[in-house]
Amino acid sequence: MSKSLNSAINKLIKWSTKDYLDLPWRKKRTLYKTLVSEIMLQQTTVQTVLNKFDQFIEEFPNLEALAKASEEQLLVAWKGLGYYRRARNLKKAAESIYRDHNGKIPSKFEDLVTIPGIGDYTANAIIAIGRDKPALALDANLERVISRLYGIKEKKGPKLHKAIQEQFDSGLIFSNFKGSFRELNEALMDLGRNHCQLRKTNCEICPLSKECVALSQNKVLNYPVADQKNKVKKESLDLYRLVIRKGNKVLAYKKAKGQWLEGQYELPTLIKSTTDKKLDQYPKATKEYETQASYKTLITKYKITNHIVVLNKETKLPFKTKWVDLDFDQFSTASIKAIQKL
Ligand code: ADE
Repeated sequence: MSKSLNSAINKLIKWSTKDYLDLPWRKKRTLYKTLVSEIMLQQTTVQTVLNKFDQFIEEFPNLEALAKASEEQLLVAWKGLGYYRRARNLKKAAESIYRDHNGKIPSKFEDLVTIPGIGDYTANAIIAIGRDKPALALDANLERVISRLYGIKEKKGPKLHKAIQEQFDSGLIFSNFKGSFRELNEALMDLGRNHCQLRKTNCEICPLSKECVALSQNKVLNYPVADQKNKVKKESLDLYRLVIRKGNKVLAYKKAKGQWLEGQYELPTLIKSTTDKKLDQYPKATKEYETQASYKTLITKYKITNHIVVLNKETKLPFKTKWVDLDFDQFSTASIKAIQKL
């Protein structure tokens, strides 16, 4: 690595540690906390994790607590973070480490990836961020920044990932980097999240700008190469959220095993319309309801418009409902939003 790149990276690290060292998962670090935060931060914004992390650690302060928790307790604690498969993966990982590794998170990549629930990304994040050893936690942010910095022109996704990993393994990028790999990874993440975004860049304030190959070609947004094919088609979904209230209580039902938001409670919910003919997460409404207000949510590939319907009396519905308090803590985030709008 050239002297000038080394010094630019040091500047970047200074910026990142000054502005972002107080993210909760960067304080009083343990490998366990890194495992939790890195799984949470996949596919979820820093802001969302910021609101949940400390509370989660308070409820499951160590690996043993997580390994022994019930799935239901875990899924409720995961509420608001979305992509619940990650919660199950995290629990699988905790159970396996507790059972097969004496409760100690292994240090080698080869051992880490044998643990169910731990893939290449999480293994590298544990090595780089948890243990501060040479590795790159290649998420989309890091891949984009590195693709621009070194001018690696590959299609966004697995091709780019593979190219960067190979160049790192063979010492073509970040070779002879003498600083902390933890700081390097976190600084690149901070840069990608704040200033080197997919469609918007602030190159004028970027400490790496003089070293950036993509910028030197005036083609920052051409890196990485867009992959149209890979785009998951968004489906639209309109739901009726039925509010049937008695004083401070409301009718709700528990989401069954295998359903979205398993273990959480929801207001009786019916499909008003959807572009996905196969969707069977909720029963279809057999009539039109008058709605009071609406709000938008997202779940996996569905863009949801939720329509609040207030019903005055108990109606026969295809749910096993019960009366629960309006401030019941096991409501799904979408149901809480409906209740807050009343
Ligand atoms: N800090 C540590 N890991 C992080 C991540 N995955 N995303 C953002 N900031 C982080």
